[in-house]
Amino acid sequence: MSPRRQDPGRSRGQETRSGSVLRSPGSGRRSSAVLPSVLTFLVIVASGGLLLMIEKGMLNSMETPSPRGTSPRLDLLRQSRRTGSGGVDLESQILQEIRNRTIRAMCRQRNSAHNIWSLSPLQRKTLLQHVLVNDKYRFLYCYVPKVACSNWKRVLKVLSGALESVDVSVKMDHHSDLLFLSSLKPEEIRYRLLHYFKFMFVREPMERLLSAYRNKFGEIQSYQKKYGVEIIKRYRKGRGKGSAVTGDDVTFVEFVRYLLEEDVERMNEHWMPMYNLCQPCAVSYDFIGSYEHLEADAEFVLQSIKAPASLHFPQRQTWYKPITTETLHYYLCTLPQKLVQELLPKYILDFSLFAYPLPNTTSEHCRH
Ligand SMILES: *[C@@H]1O[C@H](CO)[C@@H](O)[C@H](O)[C@H]1NC(C)=O
Ligand SMILES: *[C@@H]1O[C@H](CO)[C@@H](O)[C@H](O)[C@H]1NC(C)=O
Repeated sequence: MSPRRQDPGRSRGQETRSGSVLRSPGSGRRSSAVLPSVLTFLVIVASGGLLLMIEKGMLNSMETPSPRGTSPRLDLLRQSRRTGSGGVDLESQILQEIRNRTIRAMCRQRNSAHNIWSLSPLQRKTLLQHVLVNDKYRFLYCYVPKVACSNWKRVLKVLSGALESVDVSVKMDHHSDLLFLSSLKPEEIRYRLLHYFKFMFVREPMERLLSAYRNKFGEIQSYQKKYGVEIIKRYRKGRGKGSAVTGDDVTFVEFVRYLLEEDVERMNEHWMPMYNLCQPCAVSYDFIGSYEHLEADAEFVLQSIKAPASLHFPQRQTWYKPITTETLHYYLCTLPQKLVQELLPKYILDFSLFAYPLPNTTSEHCRH
């Protein structure tokens, strides 16, 4: 056992390995002593998004917790980061806790569906098409494109015996040998939602958009034809009349203009908000991992579902081009301020529910 697996924050894993998969709600969690309440407010403050949200009138419908309680919490958070022995683990653990509480608080406050049957038919269809099922290990995985989903699909195929090992070099087929919740009957869906271990993975929302943009418009011809041509026709002024549009040179600004006009519930899955894909208010996920802590979080899931010890989450592919902070900064700063201000509210639930700070695209910041 690695030290990581013994720290208190991960004890949930031990619980799930040795005992029942479902935790009883009252199973007193140590962490509730670490970070009690008022976290919605904390996250919004931490994200520097408060002004934006006030501007957009987004707080009107939300209770604002009394600020009296917040500063000690912030101090506590800062302190525990500084003094914690296993720095990264503690940070990751606190992040989990913040995310967990934010989701519970925000889902309670918004008039959101509390189970999948009260979603609209379109919302439910999208969700069910993104949830993969494994009956042997009794788990559900909601996949979000651009958040290591190919690697998770590999893991699922290995677990179901369709693939020999996660390292077999085959091109990933995103549909074959996979069971989607959408292909099951309502009572089968209900049973699995109630009794299986449910997880999803999230990523910084703008980084995910950039990743989709660079991959789809930089590399995939069918996307250039289907979306690129249309985007350029709509948003590129002064393009030569009659000149052939190939759609292979869509700029990030044009892509964002296109996103602004799209309905989040009908978007292509690669840029649809993670919230709409996985509906974290309607499905109570047992674990929400992040791309930023992919290795550790994936191992935690594999333990929780009692996967064979020999199975590990695949390494990143060799052709994988990471998005650096500098790259993201560069692209975000090519956007006019006004576009950023319009774009963020579209993805605001992804930022706030999953506890990501809003990006700083002020001109001061972009000058650097
Ligand atoms: C949030 O906390 C509850 C109660 O401890 C737990 O049952 C649940 O699995 C957690 N959810 C996530 C996404 O971490
Ligand atoms: C954005 O960055 C600038 C310059 O780095 C800084 O002065 C400013 O306080 C930041 N704003 C926010 C909201 O973080």
